[in-house]
Amino acid sequence: MEDERKEKMRQIKDEVVNFKGSPLYKDRVQNRNLPVIGEGSHNAKIMFVGEAPGKNEAQTGRPFCGAAGRILDELLQSIGMDRKEVYITNIVKDRPPQNRDPFPEEIAAYAPYLDRQIDIIQPVVVATLGRFSMKYIMDKFALSHEIQSISRIHGRVFEAEISYGKVKIIPMYHPATVLYNPSLKEDLKKDFQVLAKN
Ligand code: URA
Repeated sequence: MEDERKEKMRQIKDEVVNFKGSPLYKDRVQNRNLPVIGEGSHNAKIMFVGEAPGKNEAQTGRPFCGAAGRILDELLQSIGMDRKEVYITNIVKDRPPQNRDPFPEEIAAYAPYLDRQIDIIQPVVVATLGRFSMKYIMDKFALSHEIQSISRIHGRVFEAEISYGKVKIIPMYHPATVLYNPSLKEDLKKDFQVLAKN
């Protein structure tokens, strides 16, 4: 099973690398950036879905490897976990210029890859990091009617069904929010406690 998952994930990587129809492809090539597919265990129970790669991520091809990543690592550590035990990815696999918010057409272009990654890993919990992944994932799992601002619903556990069974969705603030609003770290820590219990 591990080999099968690895092979399917490798195929996604090949497709994203060659995704010339992407609205961000030209930018990737011009800036000599790398696409960021995802990282972690293919058998992870917990999958984190961020927004899009930033500068460090696009230079290395690894998700959450800059300042936001250090916060994510610290949060994982606070519940005794390591990033190797979880799977970390983003909706958009290429860096939007100047770290701007992803456009709806960019989310739509890359979302099928995320959908396939969810089907491969079959996580028990999907933790969304930030409002873009919250919206995409909650819409995908027929939870649109539950969507409110992230400040209202972060840390809540929403149950949904997927082809392989049940899945829990936990919306969270994006770790980068802590960089300009340090008080949110406590909220994130509490939400990680929720994660640890699910
Ligand atoms: N922010 C994201 O949403 N994803 C990353 O990989 C890094 C920063």
